[in-house]
Amino acid sequence: MDNLALFGGKPVRTTSFPDWPKAGKGDLEALKRALEAGSWGGHPEPNTEAAAFAEKFAARHDMKYGICMNTGTEANRISMRAAGLKPGQEVIIPSYNWISPITSVTVCGSNPVVVDIDPDTHLMDLTLLEAALSDKTAGVVSMHYTGRIVPPEPILEFCKKHNLFYVEDAAQAHGGRWKGKAVGSFGDAAAFSFQSSKILTAGEGGFVGSNNLEVANRAHAMVDNNRQKPWFMEEVRFPEVSNARMSEFLAALLSSQLTRLDEEQAIRQKNTRLLHDYLAEIPDVSSLEPVADETTPAYWKFVITLGDALAGISKDVFLRALMAEGIPAEPGHVPVHIHPRTTLSRDNWILVSRQEGRGAKSLPVVEHLATRVHVWLPHGILLGTEKDMEDIATAVRKVRDGMLGVNSKESAELAKTTRQVWYESAEV
Ligand SMILES: Cc1ncc(COP(=O)(O)O)c(C=O)c1O
Repeated sequence: MDNLALFGGKPVRTTSFPDWPKAGKGDLEALKRALEAGSWGGHPEPNTEAAAFAEKFAARHDMKYGICMNTGTEANRISMRAAGLKPGQEVIIPSYNWISPITSVTVCGSNPVVVDIDPDTHLMDLTLLEAALSDKTAGVVSMHYTGRIVPPEPILEFCKKHNLFYVEDAAQAHGGRWKGKAVGSFGDAAAFSFQSSKILTAGEGGFVGSNNLEVANRAHAMVDNNRQKPWFMEEVRFPEVSNARMSEFLAALLSSQLTRLDEEQAIRQKNTRLLHDYLAEIPDVSSLEPVADETTPAYWKFVITLGDALAGISKDVFLRALMAEGIPAEPGHVPVHIHPRTTLSRDNWILVSRQEGRGAKSLPVVEHLATRVHVWLPHGILLGTEKDMEDIATAVRKVRDGMLGVNSKESAELAKTTRQVWYESAEV
């Protein structure tokens, strides 16, 4: 058996995979159109390109109204406030998340109530909603982790019963569909991001969509210094007046990129099917398949899950070994309640787990999955060829065999010093 590249062997792959983001047909023309139009900013809001993109993107996601903005982080804050969140209230939200959905809650002067992950779906644990509830709860903000859709029905039922809002954070799930219905259209509002890593990107950018005119109207006010256009209904005045408008260049580029979303989605689906099947042949690893009822999976990341034998040695060693074989793997999200860069001190988190209910001291499922089990592959490489998928599977098999075989001693030795280096790093 070959030595792993991490320990001096020859790597499986020495050529690169497709890069992301990538420019394509029509992008230059779109940017030129915005340049020559001479009105480059978001004012007057919505400007021409932003209005055109918002209409197309909202329609693609079964939403009546859409507002472009500068970042997904602002989309998090604005979607929650527009849906009715007020200072002092609570938001039920999963810990397996990017940090901004949580910091956006605290920026609103509200408190995140952070729930654990379902051990079967690896998504927000919907059996914990009732336990998370208090008389301060304003709503639920789900997150479609890596593009896998959180089943909307139990959340909607819960929100209706307790008169709460439901906001989807769809920053990782552009174009996804559940029983044929698009993400973003399930609740009161949805937040999207167009930051560089996302499936649809202009480098930066955010979006709030809704089927509720009042919510959309409030989101407009928050994006544009309390101005309310084009759907003025009633005077709303948010104290945190802001300009979060999107530049016309970003909107024009997004319109062009949107024309390729479906085609790229189809390539990703074909390749991910292959990769799921290849990995199913390899012992001690598996991969997260789309959730049942997901008619169009989005795949922002492809998630490899390590079995006990490999997780027991070290996810860190597996990750480093896979990267050394030439596969651009990533560590994935650090749970927000143990993230080194979140704003709350450890004692201030309100946590909810199956074992301890509300007031839990830890969230065992997400802490285990994130720090020991999940390894990500970025979506750019899923736009590659069948041979690319084969190489990924060959590298995964080699790393598995090496860690448990010829390189088991070195792996165990390395695990003592590298365990969780990524997870304690401020770069995550
Ligand atoms: C789930 C989620 N929400 C919000 C954001 C924030 O988006 P942005 O980086 O555009 O501010 C991101 C990603 O960056 C994300 O993954």
